[in-house]
Amino acid sequence: MPKTQLITVSKVPLRNEIELAARCLKEGGLVGMPTETVYGLAANAYIPDSIRRVFEVKGRPQDNPLIVHLANCEQLPDVVSQVPEIFDTLYRAFCPGPLTMIMMRSAKIPAEISAGLDTVAVRFPDCAPAVMLIELSGVPVVAPSGNLSGKPSPTLASHMLGDLEGKIDYILDYGATEIGVESTVLDITGEIPVILRPGAITAEMIYQKTGIKVSDYTVPEVEGAAEFVPRSPGMKYRHYAPSAQVQIARGADSRERALAMAEMYKSISSEGRTMAVFASAETVGLLTQAVVTDEGRELSTYTYPGASEPARATHDLFAALRYLDNKKVDIIVVEELHGDGASAYMNRLERAAAPR
Ligand code: TXA
Ligand code: MG
Repeated sequence: MPKTQLITVSKVPLRNEIELAARCLKEGGLVGMPTETVYGLAANAYIPDSIRRVFEVKGRPQDNPLIVHLANCEQLPDVVSQVPEIFDTLYRAFCPGPLTMIMMRSAKIPAEISAGLDTVAVRFPDCAPAVMLIELSGVPVVAPSGNLSGKPSPTLASHMLGDLEGKIDYILDYGATEIGVESTVLDITGEIPVILRPGAITAEMIYQKTGIKVSDYTVPEVEGAAEFVPRSPGMKYRHYAPSAQVQIARGADSRERALAMAEMYKSISSEGRTMAVFASAETVGLLTQAVVTDEGRELSTYTYPGASEPARATHDLFAALRYLDNKKVDIIVVEELHGDGASAYMNRLERAAAPR
């Protein structure tokens, strides 16, 4: 395949910036598509060969199904065979946005997309170039995160280029993604909806906005929900892992976490290994007061301004893991955060830090 073409897209996307990629996608090509969560690897959902190539270029396990992205509800009857009653309420409350809903798959959707399951995941991205790409291509679009399987999801076009250059046709460069972690995956096929993958939309937000009680797959809350829990195949794979080992600095506040990091720094340095840190500027400031870095060892850091804040940390997590991994350190230490707003961040972080 010829070189991957990077196309810079304006804040308000122009038709001529998207058109070539849309035609290519429609005809079977693969396109890097920005969304509000992470960049996706987009392909025509109706072309089984393209779907197979998506799995191939990512190195994705065959049993991990893909999400179908739609521009609006008009395309829904082509994709699902049944629309559960609560769909409308959830759609009005959260779509377009970072909520993926699992429903029963229509016969028009190739089985390859769902890895053999009789369900299909559907989402309506809230990102202008993605919507335009889907509209202009005129087909439902599958898009897994645009990383090599097992690597952190791309939040910049350059991440995708680094992973997939020469293997895909286009990447639409729309700058940094707004949210930074993948969508919430909610199974709405059962009596009680179940969150299969935490994202920016939390169980609490769903309840607050719609009154719908959903069960959190990671923290079961609804009585008796367990027997309805279908597993999201993607969650069994180790994910989001850079080459360096990831460790979590735990603590109730910035001070405690900075002290934990200082201890980690001491022991890691004494073993002759190198460490990098991703945390807020406040936490890293406290850390640098607590450690003596005069042994000629540099401490690589990736910070965001101010105090530790879940939305900022979530936005930067994958970019930080990739950036610090490029520094070739042995260990990347990341600070723990607390609260409902930190659930997707902690989920991805725990998985990145899971033993190999
Ligand atoms: O934010 C996102 O969702 C991004 C952007 C590009 O839209 N996409 C994304 O796709 O994260 P991917 O393929 O990396 O993750 C899809 C997740 C996996 O955990 C997969 O197992 C789950 O959704 N999934 C897809 N179809 C499913 C189904 N029918 N039943 C259960 N889980 C499903
Ligand atoms: Mg992924």
